Amino acid sequence: MAFIKNAWYVAGWADEVKAGEMFHRQLLGERVVFYRKADGTPVALQDRCAHRFIPLHLGKIVDDRIECLYHGLQFDCSGRCVKNPHGDGRVPEAARVAAYPVHERHGMMWIWMGDAPADASLIPDYGVLDDTAAFTSSRGYLHIQANYELMGENLLDLSHITYLHDGYLGSPEQAGADQVVEEEGDHLLCNRWMPSVTPPGIFNMLYRQDGKPVDMWTRMLWMPPSCFLLDSGVHEAGAAQREDHGWYYGVHILTPETERTTHYHFAAAMPIGTRMSPETDEKFRALRRYAFEMQDKPIIDAQQEAIGDADFWSLKPVLLSIDLGPVRMRRAITRRLQAEAEQTA
Ligand code: FES
Ligand SMILES: [Fe+2]
Repeated sequence: MAFIKNAWYVAGWADEVKAGEMFHRQLLGERVVFYRKADGTPVALQDRCAHRFIPLHLGKIVDDRIECLYHGLQFDCSGRCVKNPHGDGRVPEAARVAAYPVHERHGMMWIWMGDAPADASLIPDYGVLDDTAAFTSSRGYLHIQANYELMGENLLDLSHITYLHDGYLGSPEQAGADQVVEEEGDHLLCNRWMPSVTPPGIFNMLYRQDGKPVDMWTRMLWMPPSCFLLDSGVHEAGAAQREDHGWYYGVHILTPETERTTHYHFAAAMPIGTRMSPETDEKFRALRRYAFEMQDKPIIDAQQEAIGDADFWSLKPVLLSIDLGPVRMRRAITRRLQAEAEQTA
């Protein structure tokens, strides 16, 4: 399975890993179990006993270790078996499971599954989720039945909002807007500027609620391999201010589960001062979730179904101007995969 390994991925929301409980998930094709030591430090281990391959999450936590349900081997937070209750109690050298570096930041549990040293400074910056003085945030999760690159293309090509999300996130006058793609180091920034358009439903709700034309922007940042931050909003047509409070940050984070499935964590950070009542706030969350779950997800799942196991490029996809961001993302991923393969070789 070809995934970029030397990178931070989101395994889940940090509070999903609860004291005294195990949380397990398949990530990058590997089964992983998470738990917390008594002092709260999170641990991530390969979720497959080294003896007869029973998922360790079926066992129990004993003194900061996991005890396998089947024959009671105990594995510590480094993945080493430290107790064999059988025979003379000797622990075979091979009795160990992989242990992965984990780090809690921005309310998420990050995991590093590659061989290179895990450097926490490389965790993408989602500080907007921590800045409670300036933003209120909401969050969600979806399971996508498609490869993460297909979902990533969806996020980097927001021309689809005009069609797929018409009325909610998009409006007809947006069609034909230029997509400008900038590179900043290994990050990509895909900008669309849509002057004088009918405010799409969600933005009309956040803004003046009068349906008058607005200028709208979407700026999607890609932080490889699969983290995205959207800055999107509207303001009065022809004006140049952002203080109008018709905007928000959208957090979109993809973690490959398998070649054909993806964990999708999303959140929104809304600047405090946005004209929202508890009802419109609730509606905003519900409409955003509706757009992702009932509009994006079925399309991306169906796209994967149509592609099957074929290599994406072998199908010779037609390329349009709107594909600039997605194509650059795919190329950058391919380059990083090649670099990792060469390092391993
Ligand atoms: S399968 Fe885990 S101890 Fe035997
Ligand atoms: Fe979408």
